[in-house]
Amino acid sequence: MIVALLNQKGGVGKTTLALHLAGQWAQSGRRVMLIDADPQGSALDWAEQRAAEGLPRQFSVIGLARDTLHQEAPALARDVDHVIIDGPPRVAGLLRSALLAADLILIPVQPSPLDGWASAEMLALLDQARIFKPAITARFLLNRYPARTIIARATAESLEAHDPPLLPEHVGQRVIFAEAMRTGRLASELDEDGIAAREVAALADAIERLAP
Ligand SMILES: Nc1ncnc2c1ncn2[C@@H]1O[C@H](COP(=O)(O)OP(=O)(O)OP(=O)(O)O)[C@@H](O)[C@H]1O
Ligand SMILES: [Mg+2]
Repeated sequence: MIVALLNQKGGVGKTTLALHLAGQWAQSGRRVMLIDADPQGSALDWAEQRAAEGLPRQFSVIGLARDTLHQEAPALARDVDHVIIDGPPRVAGLLRSALLAADLILIPVQPSPLDGWASAEMLALLDQARIFKPAITARFLLNRYPARTIIARATAESLEAHDPPLLPEHVGQRVIFAEAMRTGRLASELDEDGIAAREVAALADAIERLAP
């Protein structure tokens, strides 16, 4: 399966979630490749940091921030169980290519009272991609979900009747994710049985069940 985390909105958790899904699947024995399609290379930075600390490599991370991604991805996917694409912010050509490369699109969104949860441009690009590839499966994925707040509930409600649908599994607002990003680790390596690790595991299972 090729799954892409895409949203033109920056800072919604694309890289954090891509790395954690990759790590979770690798830990359960899948062969995983993460494609960093962001010219900023944050996932590559994480892998470098990890290597510098002498931590074991669980999955490969390659940089492929070019708009031929959809042509190259199938060959890369041949040798692994899952390819995860960490999407670029703002660059429409790259985003279009990532959309066409993937079987499953996850659109991370943060509960937000003001500026909405999705990038309208992102949804327009998804519609365009469906002209060429009608079978694309897509889901919104709530990240940084604060427990029991009105904003979170309102966001979930506003997404309920939406296309693409909202994935029922969400990821909470937890400092451990920021620490993981900073230290080249995964939340499960910092706190094996913590809530963050359990949320990631539940999410990874749910996504595999969606596999087209
Ligand atoms: N669930 C979470 N809880 C707490 N912090 C989070 C969570 N998810 C992401 N963050 C933090 O939010 C920031 C942005 O996350 P991330 O870099 O994954 O987003 P992104 O969508 O990849 O951003 P960009 O568009 O710049 O590539 C990071 O500092 C990250 O540590
Ligand atoms: Mg990123």
